[in-house]
Amino acid sequence: MKLLGIETSCDETAAAVVEDGAVRSNIIYSQIAQHAPYGGVVPEIASRDHVRKLPGIIEEALAKANGSFDDLDGLAVTFGPGLASSLLIGFSAARALSQRLNKPLMGINHHEGHIYSVFLGEDPPQLEGAFPMLTLMVSGGDTRLVYIREPGNYEIVGQTIDDAAGEALDKGATLLGLGYPGGPAIQQFAEGGNPHAVRFPRGLDNPGSDWTYNLDRTLCFSFSGLKTSLLYFLQKNPDVMEDETKKRDVTASYQEAVADALTTRMERALKKYSCAAFSCAGGVSLNKPLRGKLTALSEKTSVPLRLSSPTLCTDNAAMIAGAAAIRLQAGLPFNVPQDVNPTLRLENWKRVNKQPEL
Ligand code: KG4
Repeated sequence: MKLLGIETSCDETAAAVVEDGAVRSNIIYSQIAQHAPYGGVVPEIASRDHVRKLPGIIEEALAKANGSFDDLDGLAVTFGPGLASSLLIGFSAARALSQRLNKPLMGINHHEGHIYSVFLGEDPPQLEGAFPMLTLMVSGGDTRLVYIREPGNYEIVGQTIDDAAGEALDKGATLLGLGYPGGPAIQQFAEGGNPHAVRFPRGLDNPGSDWTYNLDRTLCFSFSGLKTSLLYFLQKNPDVMEDETKKRDVTASYQEAVADALTTRMERALKKYSCAAFSCAGGVSLNKPLRGKLTALSEKTSVPLRLSSPTLCTDNAAMIAGAAAIRLQAGLPFNVPQDVNPTLRLENWKRVNKQPEL
């Protein structure tokens, strides 16, 4: 079964062809250069760029997979969460194609795409023995721990109470004058720096009595204090910005605090939840120190770790078509969306209606 995936939830315009769960093409156009001067994504620029690029990206994805619209069995599109004006472009294109080609359209939750990205590659996904699985989802707008008993059954067991991990890296990079996006800029500049030079906070380190969230505090994240702590550190130590060695040390220490905060929560979750595997997905999962720490955790706990290949970590459409293929494989129903849902939550997934006929 051949599916065309379309993803435009933020600042990547992406299309992919996935055949029986195997990735045949995965075309991603990143708008980073357009947004870099503003230090973050500008929604209006993002949606206009999606309009310009999406038709060509779809054609490229089909050509790379040696396919045509006629070969497709269906389409899968991200309908949330994300920027409303960006989601609308991919969604409108997918819906128009679905109607014109008379092929079913499957609405996919962007987070669900990230979750299943760890199973995707050139071969059909192997899901046997992977569940229950704990997934750490880390991107520019999201940081959460999801316990997945089986495909389609998601339980949020921890999440950030303020900034996302990627946001902390993006904001930290701005303070350090390293540019946008911050994650790769920090990773590159931190190379050779001492990650233990400064002890930055790991968030929610101290037990507090003011906990109002309906989640286990020890599995939740907080990154807003980390960013403030870097700001105060740089104000108190202005020489750091002039001294490359010191700046590399501070950058490496900041990155270490993010990677450590994430890994520590995963370690705690693995003690609490019985798992056949654990995984990490989303843009921040590209981070080398984080990947190293999670690999060490896997060795220590003997719980297998699944990571996505680099082209599947940041936003892409292969994960959207892949998630659709995995849902079909697992016999799960589909949402047939009538509109985008910018605040779509993973937990809402159960609110589904009918299964498209394939
Ligand atoms: O999943 P993603 O592509 O987009 C969404 O947020 O939906 O993630 C983007 C985030 C950005 O915050 C970026 O700084 C971060 O992923 N990122 C990284 C790396 N590459 C991208 N963070 C740490 N290390 C990296 N190598």
